[in-house]
Amino acid sequence: MTTIALPQITVPAGLRIASAVRDGLTARSKRLPSWLFYDETGSDLFDQITRLPEYYVTRTERRILDAHAAEIVAQAADPRTGSRLRIVELGAGSADKTRLLLKAAIDYQGTVVYEPIDVSPSALEAARERIEREIPNTTVCPSVYDYTQEFDLESADPGMRRMVLYIGSSIGNFEPRQAHKLLNAVRCALDPDDTILLGVDLRKDVRTLLAAYDDAAGVTARFNLNLLARLNRELDADFDLDAFGHRAVWNDLESRMEMHLESLDAQSVRLPGLKLEIAFRKGERIHTENSYKYETGQAEEMLADAGFTPESTWTDERNWCAVCLARAL
Ligand code: AVJ
Repeated sequence: MTTIALPQITVPAGLRIASAVRDGLTARSKRLPSWLFYDETGSDLFDQITRLPEYYVTRTERRILDAHAAEIVAQAADPRTGSRLRIVELGAGSADKTRLLLKAAIDYQGTVVYEPIDVSPSALEAARERIEREIPNTTVCPSVYDYTQEFDLESADPGMRRMVLYIGSSIGNFEPRQAHKLLNAVRCALDPDDTILLGVDLRKDVRTLLAAYDDAAGVTARFNLNLLARLNRELDADFDLDAFGHRAVWNDLESRMEMHLESLDAQSVRLPGLKLEIAFRKGERIHTENSYKYETGQAEEMLADAGFTPESTWTDERNWCAVCLARAL
C-alpha cells in the first residue's frame, strides 16, 4: 500500500490564508499567492476556463495524451521488468485528462490504482465518483493534501512502478527555484525507476498567450476577481469588486504570463479579520499569478536537475505544449 504521510505539524488553513494575505498586501509591491484562487467557486471557474476557446492549454495537452496514452503507460510500467503501474496525481482537480491514462493502464494491465492528491475535497469527491462510474477496474484512493507543503510516499510493493502525474502546466505557477524544490521533493518520495509525467506550456506568440489569459467572455477576469470575493467571505474584508480590474500581462524577460488586479481608483480596503486597512493608489496592482512558458528542452533540463532521467517528450503539431516522461535515478 502506498499512503501519503501527513506532515507532523499542519498549519491550519485559516492561519495560512491570513498570514499569506497579511504578507502580500503589506508588501511594497502588493501580491497574493495563486493557490488562493482555488476555493469552491474558484475551482469551478477554472473548470470553465479549461473549456474556453482561447484557453488552449487543456485542449492541447488532452490531444497529446489522447494520441500517446498507451505508449506512455507501457513505458512508465517498464516492460523490461514486467512491472505493474500505479498512478499518483498531484493537483488532480477534476482529473478529466487523467481518464485517458487510466483507460490505457486498464488496457495494459487489467486494473489500476489511482491516487489523486488535491487541496479541494469537493473536486476529489467529484473526480472519484465520475472515475468509479466511468472506468470500472479503477480503485481510487484520494488524499486531501497540499503537495507544495512537502509530502512523502511510502514505498510501493516490490514489482510496482509508480507514475506521478504532474500535468496541466501547474508547474508553471512556480518560480524556477520553487519548481526545482518541488520536483526534488517528488524525486525524494519516489523509488528508483518510478517515473514522473510532467506537462508544461511552451513559449508561443504573445497574442495567443494574452487571449488565453484575458478571454472575451470574461471568465478569467472573474477567476482573478474571485480572489477578492474570497477575502471578503473568509476574512470579512470589504473589497469592492467593481473597483478592481483584471490585467493579463506578458513578461518576456521572465518568460511568463502574469495576472494582476488593478485598483481603478484611489481607495482603502478594510480587513477586520486581520486588523488591517490597506490603501491603494489609482492604478496600483496586486500581482496574483505567474504562469511560466518554457523553451523546448527546458522541461527535460528541470527534470534532470532534480534527479530524473528524461526518456521521452511528446508535443502537439504546433509545439504549444509538451509532456515529458522521466525516470527516477
Ligand atoms: C492551472 C496554473 C495551469 O497557469 O494556465 C488559467 C491557471 N490562470 N488561467 C495556468 C490559470 C489563468 C493555469 N494553471
